Formats: sequence, structure tokens, C-alpha cells
Amino acid sequence: RSERRPLVAGNWKMNGLRKDLVEAEKICVAAAAGEAGEAEVVICLPATLLISAAPACHAAGVGLGGQHCHGEPKGPFTGDLSAEMLRDAGASYVILGHSERRAGHNEGNAAVREKTRGAFRAGLTAIVCVGETRGQREAGDALPIVGSQLTGSIPGEATPQNLVIAYEPVWAIGTGLTPTLRDIAEMHRFIRERVGVDLPRIRDGIRILYGGSVKPNNAADLMRVPNVDGALVGGASLTAKDFMGIAGVY
Ligand code: G3P
Repeated sequence: RSERRPLVAGNWKMNGLRKDLVEAEKICVAAAAGEAGEAEVVICLPATLLISAAPACHAAGVGLGGQHCHGEPKGPFTGDLSAEMLRDAGASYVILGHSERRAGHNEGNAAVREKTRGAFRAGLTAIVCVGETRGQREAGDALPIVGSQLTGSIPGEATPQNLVIAYEPVWAIGTGLTPTLRDIAEMHRFIRERVGVDLPRIRDGIRILYGGSVKPNNAADLMRVPNVDGALVGGASLTAKDFMGIAGVY
């Protein structure tokens, strides 16, 4: 753990107009004032806000991320954005394989792997999401499902610098529910072991975030779970108060 700097990343999803940049700016001010403690702070904004947010984020040392990208650098893909475009807009991170993309846009593991390669090519760090549905957990399949997502989604070129893994149980997203700390510990240990089998050289260095209903009142318990190297935060990242309440526990 000591070698892995905690990462607290916010995922604004499809929320945020230019007027809401005031919250991003407050996050920057708080992070620059040291309110995030040891943690690296990243906000993954809608693509329309990246360019506007970049100066304040860069000045404060807050990382900026996109929420998705195409695998190709450019071309006839109407409506898509490449990793190069996100980088050009000021991003250094991109979320890939979020369950809302896997389910809502039919992104399978192979597609996530191609997009992750695109992120690496552009010099972005990919936050690759994995996680089981409620039905899969109840059927006792959570570990094998996450295991196959990891093996299928992570390219061989991954390093502890260009890849972060986020474990987000689908049933915990936006619901106020979280797995028990014991279940989270089991899954995070399993993820590190599985990565160690597939890519032994990154086993110890890779950061594994927990995501799904992380709030200021449960963040401290979650951060103490072994192999939890930070959080991927949805709803609570939309206000500086809640987001820094989470980042501040690190
Ligand atoms: O990517 C983060 C997200 O899916 C979790 O959302 O609102 O449960 O924190 P939330």
C-alpha cells in the first residue's frame, strides 16, 4: 500500500453545465490547500467541460479525465471522441468499461481492451471498470465474472502508471448499497491475484479503486480495507463538499 499513492477519482457522468464548473474550481482550491491529504485527486468531467476546467485543474495539481473514448485516433466515427482528443483537451485520465457503457452501449471486454490500448497510445491513464450484477453475485459468480472482465479488458501493455482498475459492483452504483467490507476485501485481493497471474510485473504496483455509493460517511471504513487504493465516486463527486469529504480521509 505504501508504494501505491491513493487515488480519489470523481465521475460526473452526464452531469454538469458550464455553470457547474464552480464546483470543479472549489475542488481545485481545496486540493491545492492540501485537503486531500495523501491522495491524488482526479475529476472525470463531461467532455464539453474539459477545456474550460483544464487551467484550474492543472494549476492545482488535480487530474482531469474523460469518461469514455473510441479506440482509434481519428476517423469516420460520428459522435465519438478519441483518446488523443481528450488529451488535447487537457485530460490525463479516461474511464473505460464503466458498467453504464458496458450495459448501455454494448461494450464487451474486447472493445474495452481496444479502447484501453487507444488510451495508452495517447498517453492517458485508463481507469478500467469491472464489477458484477446483483444476479451474478447472488449466483455466486462475482469472482469469475470479474476475473474474466479483467483478463478480457486489460491489454498486455498495461503498467502501474497507465492503468488503474476500479471495482464497481453494478448493484452498488447510485443505490446507497455497498458490499460488506469483507466482500470488498475478498474481491480486491482476488483482483490483485488475478492481475498477478495475467501480468505479474504489475501485480504489486497497480492501484485498485472501489466504486459504488462511496460517501463521506463510509469513505474512511472503505479506505482501510486491504488492497483498496482509493475510490471512484459518482454522485458524491458533484459537490466539492462531499467529494473533498471523501478525498480528505486519505
Ligand atoms: O463511476 C462511479 C460510479 O459508478 C459510482 O456511482 O453514485 O454510486 O458513487 P455512485
